[in-house]
Amino acid sequence: MRTTIHTIKECKKQKRKIVALTAYDYSTAKSLDNAGVDVILVGDSLAQVALGHENTLSLTMDEMLHHAKAVVKGVKNALVVVDMPFLSYQVSKKDAVLNAGRCLQIGAQAVKVEGASKDILKTIEKMISTGIPVLGHVGFTPQSVNALGGNRVQGKTALAAKDLLSQAKDLQNVGCFAVVIELVPSEVGALITENLDVPTIGIGAGSDCDGQILVTDDLLGKFMDFKPSFVKRYAELGKNTEDAVKDFIYDVQNGKYPQVNESFFMAEPEAEKLNKR
Ligand code: KIV
Repeated sequence: MRTTIHTIKECKKQKRKIVALTAYDYSTAKSLDNAGVDVILVGDSLAQVALGHENTLSLTMDEMLHHAKAVVKGVKNALVVVDMPFLSYQVSKKDAVLNAGRCLQIGAQAVKVEGASKDILKTIEKMISTGIPVLGHVGFTPQSVNALGGNRVQGKTALAAKDLLSQAKDLQNVGCFAVVIELVPSEVGALITENLDVPTIGIGAGSDCDGQILVTDDLLGKFMDFKPSFVKRYAELGKNTEDAVKDFIYDVQNGKYPQVNESFFMAEPEAEKLNKR
């Protein structure tokens, strides 16, 4: 059955942890959905993980939609959330609603935006009143990497922690159905989670959040440029891929691939005719 934003909100009431992962393509999305994750985020981390950019800032709306369309095709049950790229929602409310609307038109169920400034809150309100469910995002917000001075843990002082709590409350008050909390001390993840009625989904935010999200390529050991310290690897697909490709290179170079069972043959009379020529 299709997960909706109401299912996600119910999880908090029922104390059932929400499981969320990223996907940028059809086959990965299908595997995540078959495995039973609740939320599939077409994260703008695709800029780094799938497109090789240094950060998320250069991803365009068209690139995001290209990947999101593939993800949507692979998912039957999970809630598909599209991450709004940098500049697709910060410049004007009109652009924001049009761009977010395009995400719903291709079959996603919600969008995610970063931050909780006054302008962003107004934009979120407009999106929600247009019928577009919004997932909020506080703490380390990668699109502000330059303003934040790098990939740093946020909310390390009591004052900063209280500010993050008030941002998360603002997001709840304008109607976000859940809030992602990224890269904060566990105490801050717990504080925000206890004080919100909507669910929190943590990434590097401790175990008390109502759910957890990771970048799938990190979890699978597929993205090997760096490993954030909060990531737990459940597989080593990057290494396995390299090993498998080395085996293929060996087989091809040594005439071990393809074998008879991996080849096609003509019917005998045709083969004979061919040989007589
Ligand atoms: O883009 C992304 O992958 C994210 C995280 C919350 C996983 O925003």
